[in-house]
Amino acid sequence: MAEVNVRVEVEGPFATVTVDRPKSLNALDTRTLQELEKIIGDLAQRDGLRGVILTGAGEKAFVAGADIAEMNGMDADRARHFAALGHRVMDGLGGLPVPVIAAVNGFALGGGCELALACDFIYASENAKFGLPEVSLGVIPGFGGTQRLTRLLGRGRAKELIFTGDMIDAAKAREIGLVMEVVPLARLLGHARAALERVAKKGPLAVRRAKEGIDRGADLELADGLTIERELFSDLFNSADRREGMKAFLEKRPPAFAGR
Ligand code: CAA
Repeated sequence: MAEVNVRVEVEGPFATVTVDRPKSLNALDTRTLQELEKIIGDLAQRDGLRGVILTGAGEKAFVAGADIAEMNGMDADRARHFAALGHRVMDGLGGLPVPVIAAVNGFALGGGCELALACDFIYASENAKFGLPEVSLGVIPGFGGTQRLTRLLGRGRAKELIFTGDMIDAAKAREIGLVMEVVPLARLLGHARAALERVAKKGPLAVRRAKEGIDRGADLELADGLTIERELFSDLFNSADRREGMKAFLEKRPPAFAGR
């Protein structure tokens, strides 16, 4: 399947994935989700990848939601498959073993907000707008919003946003902890890239294990999460990166990590 609605640019160790379907404000239809699924599968296999930025084409929308025109024709069974496809995409994105940053450059509504929530964290441009307006259409978030927003912000905020369908601006999204930083649109991709470059100077294996520990532990009891942390922490003591990182510190020089 040739990709027409999603672009990937790989530059050195970083990939930028851009949802590019301007006539529908980058809305996610089945085809776009399938393209994303394939691209994420390819990135998961890519040696030397150290980070991913996900964004939307143009200056107006990140992703304006799941495609309403397509959903209009769905029965319950097709809707279940559509949500399952969306869940595979969001799980695959979050499950990439390297940092994934959402660079939200405009409307991130419904499925678009859910796509951003599936990334490790979100940077937004000043014109970005977030919301889960599904109840206005007589449905609920179906690409993970009821679950991921609740885990990130707690039940009260998640219920407020999902019950009202209110749109919030980037400053408010930062205030409530949905967005980490807000920057002018022209600086958004550079800001995300600079963060990936800072991460790429660190031990690659350590960053992977940190992501694994946070994500595997997030839904567990604290004691079970700490068990995972102990295993990941001690395993790293067998790595060349750990030996190099500590040796370099003691020798007062920058480390040269090999990623193993
Ligand atoms: N699906 C399909 N098409 C969409 C779309 C979507 N989610 N969002 C926008 N578009 C289309 C519009 O229909 C319009 O197409 P035409 O030019 O052919 O009429 C085009 O994109 C431009 O949009 P507008 O003219 O509406 O632009 P605007 O500036 O007036 O408004 C907007 C922008 C506020 C984002 C508005 O487009 C909007 O409210 N979009 C829908 C947002 C939404 O409800 N998202 C949630 C979808 S449900 C969901 O996502 C379910 C789930 O969790 C899985």
